[in-house]
Amino acid sequence: MQWRPTTCAYLRIIPRPRTGTGCFSTGRHIVTDPYGSLRVRDLGHVTAGRAKQLAARTRVYGMTEPSDVHATRAAYNTVAADYAELLRDELDNKPFDRAMLGTFAELVGSAGGGAVADLGCGPGRITAHLHSLGLAAFGVDLSPEMVAVARRDHPGLEFDEGSIEALGLADGTLGGIVAWYSIIHTPPSRLPRVFAEFHRTLQDGGLLLLAFQAGDEPRHLRFAYGHEIDLDAYRLPPEGITELLLLAGLVVEAQLLREPDDRHEKTAQAYVLARKPAAS
Ligand SMILES: C[S@@+](CC[C@H](N)C(=O)[O-])C[C@H]1O[C@@H](n2cnc3c(N)ncnc32)[C@H](O)[C@@H]1O
Repeated sequence: MQWRPTTCAYLRIIPRPRTGTGCFSTGRHIVTDPYGSLRVRDLGHVTAGRAKQLAARTRVYGMTEPSDVHATRAAYNTVAADYAELLRDELDNKPFDRAMLGTFAELVGSAGGGAVADLGCGPGRITAHLHSLGLAAFGVDLSPEMVAVARRDHPGLEFDEGSIEALGLADGTLGGIVAWYSIIHTPPSRLPRVFAEFHRTLQDGGLLLLAFQAGDEPRHLRFAYGHEIDLDAYRLPPEGITELLLLAGLVVEAQLLREPDDRHEKTAQAYVLARKPAAS
């Protein structure tokens, strides 16, 4: 597996000029997509909410996306309802998960709070847990079926469609990011882009918490959660991930590697907690 980071441009929506909170003025938006092209769109006078919708649409439908993204969305669309059912109470059996999420919540609170994005939220079980810990959590997921299930199961919380590679969020808006087993389908060569996006959207002092299966080999999944699927997944080496986070400007504060439990896990599980340093 190649761990050398690649230089990359990720989708970035640059509103200009910006006037006041929650409103973009009439103007052109420059859209640089991750796959090479630069487009300039005239969005007219739009509210921040509408700009977010347009950004999501551009991101999700308006460009040629890599085939792995398409495959990941299709696979999770297929399994969404059964995944939600099977994992509904899974946190009850995961004391280390609850410990890391609890520590994250405490650190976000002591850093001043703020919005917390659960990126790759799936059916929203972690978003709901973060909310129960007092955080202003919302979820984002690639799969519209997952988003629909999350909205159904947690009607009081906000869930949006989107990609961790190109978030429709302004710079420095998040007090925290959780990516719970959601970076595992992105080819490692594109993880620098993902971590750059996390760094861009976190506020100074904001926290990031990752969970993933530890290892260093790609896998191809043909059956999961009761369905035939066609999905790549990557076990990731914690030391490679911490190196990439550092290169993205995020400082690693804690790591946990635990043995697989005797339920469904086949490999060690890794948790990494990092922070965007305060601007000097
Ligand atoms: C293994 S599930 C984990 C879901 C949830 N975090 C949980 O722990 O229940 C992976 C989730 O990440 C989402 N995902 C994968 N790649 C993504 C991407 N590039 N952007 C946004 N979501 C993504 C999938 O759609 C799926 O819902």
